[in-house]
Amino acid sequence: MFQRSPQKPKSITRKTAEEIEKMRVAGRLAAEVLDMIGPHVVEGVTTEELDQLCHDFIVNVQEAIPAPLNYRGFPKSICTSVNHVVCHGIPGPKKLKKGDVVNLDITVIKDGFHGDTSRMFQIGTPSVAAQRVTRIAYECLCIGVQMVRPGIRLGDIGHAIQKYAESHHCSVVREYCGHGIGRDFHEEPQVLHYGEPGVGVELFPGMTFTIEPMINAGKRHVKLLSDGWTVVTKDHSLSAQWEHTVLVTETSHEILTLSPGTTL
Ligand code: MF3
Ligand code: CO
Ligand code: CO
Repeated sequence: MFQRSPQKPKSITRKTAEEIEKMRVAGRLAAEVLDMIGPHVVEGVTTEELDQLCHDFIVNVQEAIPAPLNYRGFPKSICTSVNHVVCHGIPGPKKLKKGDVVNLDITVIKDGFHGDTSRMFQIGTPSVAAQRVTRIAYECLCIGVQMVRPGIRLGDIGHAIQKYAESHHCSVVREYCGHGIGRDFHEEPQVLHYGEPGVGVELFPGMTFTIEPMINAGKRHVKLLSDGWTVVTKDHSLSAQWEHTVLVTETSHEILTLSPGTTL
């Protein structure tokens, strides 16, 4: 999501047991959309065809709502971010081609609660550089998720992600961040993927938020295209992103957007 500044006064919600159960359902549905669409992400398919398949599955099979559709004017049901597109790519008539890497970002609303998750997909065998930034971004997500527990601060997580990415000569996008999530798509707090240890919001049980590092193979700077949504790397370097929705539990965390039967 977009990073606002300055940060609004804090109003981080603590989900009740019933709300957590609904978040689990929404999270599982979002993951199942990615499982469904995977086999369709092939050479020659257009991103608007992928959007249509996801829309119909969410609406007709899951009986849920695709959260991006009409969100602040976004025109489609999913985000499709190809190669040097960082995030918020709008599905369109362009065909995916061999060597592309694409992030599909799915957010569903079920029973009033949101589940938000994204993954990278490869068309054929991408360049070594594309595979590498895809892997580093995934590892950044894992590093962040594994740190989640009560008492740790968001700055600890952001710092660890930034340190890992930069030690591998990648960069972290600053203008967009993870976010609290629940009844609203984007709630407090902002979850930055860079920062200083010991700084920021302290996590407590019942918080739900996303971690969704955007990692560039080149410099961190981004540019917003004239469509008002598509964010690209300024230097046209490749960018990769993975996202999970997580719950802070009494002692640790639960990933709400894992596919059934999988782990990180
Ligand atoms: N799913 C994105 C996120 O992770 C937000 C997309 S907003 C949209 O926060 F309007 F582009 F859909
Ligand atoms: Co998100
Ligand atoms: Co998302």
